[in-house]
Amino acid sequence: MLYNDFLKGKNIYSIKTKNGEKVNFRAPRKSDLDSITSYINNLVEEEAMILVNKKVSKENERTYLNRMIKRNKNKEDIFLCAECQGKIIGIASIGKGRYREKHVGSLGIGVSMKYRHSGIGRAFIKLLLDMSKNLKLNLITLEVFKKNLNAIGLYKKMGFKKVGEIPQKIYYKGKYENVLIMYREL
Ligand SMILES: CC(C)(COP(=O)(O)OP(=O)(O)OC[C@H]1O[C@@H](n2cnc3c(N)ncnc32)[C@H](O)[C@@H]1OP(=O)(O)O)[C@@H](O)C(=O)NCCC(=O)NCCS
Repeated sequence: MLYNDFLKGKNIYSIKTKNGEKVNFRAPRKSDLDSITSYINNLVEEEAMILVNKKVSKENERTYLNRMIKRNKNKEDIFLCAECQGKIIGIASIGKGRYREKHVGSLGIGVSMKYRHSGIGRAFIKLLLDMSKNLKLNLITLEVFKKNLNAIGLYKKMGFKKVGEIPQKIYYKGKYENVLIMYREL
């Protein structure tokens, strides 16, 4: 039901922020291009603890957005966005593994700074875990900077366990930083 509505492009869930603004969760659309480009570039500017560290052009982002839409439609991945007052303020995804890892999904998530600590991250993960069954997944893995205490706190709360640590995997603000590997069974 949830997943069918998601595939149809409907809002599948909504919450209120601390300021009482309504946030809707739905699949990304072509018309979100400008908003998604700003969302990503704001995370880059903030030096958020994510892999991407270079601003994206609208043209590059168009290619990526088309890919997201196509992979959602083909039930290959799940790209979910959070919209508030017509703007995209968060994106989270589950990427389906290939070949012998078709039952494994990898989680990615981001929320615009202004909207953090309102439960958007938590709602994203809950929705993605629910919908993952439709991709026939039974295991979710993720990597997170060891210093990213907000994200690690959220993942633990959502049932993820730490299973390992890779030293110096990420170059961030002039230093090599460790990355944690976490997983959750579905
Ligand atoms: C990680 C991120 C997605 C969390 O999003 P969010 O919308 O702020 O998360 P939520 O408001 O749903 O927080 C959920 C829970 O996380 C936990 N949490 C949040 N901050 C925490 C902290 N500093 N320490 C421990 N736990 C924390 C809390 O348990 C919180 O639940 P509660 O509000 O019921 O107490 C957000 O901080 C973000 O986008 N950061 C920048 C990008 C990024 O780091 N992405 C992750 C890459 S791996």
